[in-house]
Amino acid sequence: MTSFLNPAQQSFVEDLLSRMTLAEKVGQMTQIEKNSVKPGDLARLSIGSVLSGGGGNPEPNTPQTWRNMVSAFIDESLKSRLGIPLIYGSDAVHGHNNVHGATIFPHNIGLGATRDPDLLRRIGRATALEACATDVRWTFAPAVSLPQDVRWGRTYEGYGQTPEIVVPLATALIEGLRGDGWDTPTSVLPSVKHYVADGATTWGTSTRVKPGEEDNPDRTMLLAEMPEDRRTLALRGAWQIDQGDARISEDELREAHLPPYRAALEAGALNVMVSYSMWQGQRMHEHHHLLTGVLKGELGFEGFIVSDWEAIQKLHVDFDLCVERSVNAGIDMVMVPFDYEEFIESLTRLVGAGRVAQARIDDAVRRILSVKVYLGLFEQPHTDPALLERLGSAEHHALAREATQKSCVLLKNDADLLPLRPEGPLLVAGRWADDIGLQCGGWTVSWMGGSGPTVPGTSILDGLREQLGQQHIHFDPDASGAQKYPLGLVVLGEENYSEGTGDRHTLALTDEHLAVLERARARCERLAVVLLCGRPQVITEQVGDMDALLVGFLPGSEGAGVADVLTGHAPASGKLSFDWPLTQGDLNRAEAQGWLYRIGDGLSYPPQGRP
Ligand code: GLC
Repeated sequence: MTSFLNPAQQSFVEDLLSRMTLAEKVGQMTQIEKNSVKPGDLARLSIGSVLSGGGGNPEPNTPQTWRNMVSAFIDESLKSRLGIPLIYGSDAVHGHNNVHGATIFPHNIGLGATRDPDLLRRIGRATALEACATDVRWTFAPAVSLPQDVRWGRTYEGYGQTPEIVVPLATALIEGLRGDGWDTPTSVLPSVKHYVADGATTWGTSTRVKPGEEDNPDRTMLLAEMPEDRRTLALRGAWQIDQGDARISEDELREAHLPPYRAALEAGALNVMVSYSMWQGQRMHEHHHLLTGVLKGELGFEGFIVSDWEAIQKLHVDFDLCVERSVNAGIDMVMVPFDYEEFIESLTRLVGAGRVAQARIDDAVRRILSVKVYLGLFEQPHTDPALLERLGSAEHHALAREATQKSCVLLKNDADLLPLRPEGPLLVAGRWADDIGLQCGGWTVSWMGGSGPTVPGTSILDGLREQLGQQHIHFDPDASGAQKYPLGLVVLGEENYSEGTGDRHTLALTDEHLAVLERARARCERLAVVLLCGRPQVITEQVGDMDALLVGFLPGSEGAGVADVLTGHAPASGKLSFDWPLTQGDLNRAEAQGWLYRIGDGLSYPPQGRP
């Protein structure tokens, strides 16, 4: 009995289920990454879903080529014996960010600083329209992680460190993705992730590579994709906490990390993605108690659970055991994502051997079909192509700029240095002031994002020139000139990273940052600093040299929104949603002894009239 379906829809699902072969049922439980689909297999195997992983773009990467690609996959699925439409999934985690031309919103750490559910609802709606423009009806968002140790490379995917911050914002985003109803043609299925307590893992417990195994072939292979020297990244701490073990009590799990899921389900979320991580030493992907007992049982989740990318393969060296343990634990669809025939053969074999019950298969497929029926995919497997004109629209860019303005947090402002009111020339230093790729961060067109003009948008420097005029601004990226200034602005930022590639032993300004800061400090009577970061940084020893400090986090494609706040064309209003550590010993919130700033900190000023 699926309560979110009406009786006619329930009958439709039961009738369809009764006519499906085991092979077709197993096909519906299979999700394949788009480059791994062999021609004709979507129809032949009745595949349930295809996805784009981070950077899984068509070439060329345009909204139209995206739509052509996704629509073709859907059309092929409709040629299956029973014509069950596939659902296409993509990580639209800060806008429809894989698509070149999409609006890129601030990452969640910045949105957390807005404390503005209405804004999140509007972002969800805009993101849904841009996803639907490309025929995508499933996004792997929102992450409802509560990152407790900010050394984690996925910290920026979290809205904040407490459920009080995360719940209202994640719920609002889901409501935005829903729009007027899940059964309306521009709703997009959210995937609430990563279940559960993905942000509570302990440093050094990453199961991908153990400490001291920097030369581990697995690490070397993983870092092979990295633009940097593999070992350097490994020694910085890559893959040391991501996918690690959450060594927390059940009380803490239930009080802190479960509430966002409860709220998401109440908001109608019908998909949950499982975390790679472990809880008390057991992997989530085989955790029957938390997947079936708690999520489906206690919380009454009636949607379907999807595994993470190649996650079940990490359960055991024997693949059949991986499939048996994950499906029996409660996973309904497996993001294989490559060798789908191996998965289909394995699960079919396990059912034949009685190691996976037919009833478990029927429950999984009933859940998948019910969501597809509820989204209206059978009646309307394609979205309206006219939505393409909404993708990257001026309206959405204006919304992104508003979000960027509201995500900025003013942490220091001696003698009201900000908003800037330059009488004479203004020195602007730091290459991050004019780099849209770096201000967007990871999960932007490619998995790790890039640098330079990667997407349409505005840099902070563009915004300063718009608000203050070209003549006043002297852009000197490394502050190596000799001229002195009454007023200077330095923009510093992190390099891009995603997932475990961003795990770091320490969070400190780099030698490059310090050199630019030192040179600018020596040349400017008064100096403001903008910090673009995906997580708190330890700046205790440097903040004294700053007359003002504004944190812009990862502002997305509209860096001009940061300039709006700097120049007073928008108010300073953001409040930290993460505690800021005092020392390198305070990076794990559970063990920290001291803080530089706390959750809720943030100075403010009203919008100023035009200078
Ligand atoms: C990744 C991430 C997950 C993402 C999925 C598909 O490994 O863990 O957040 O949704 O794979 O790209």
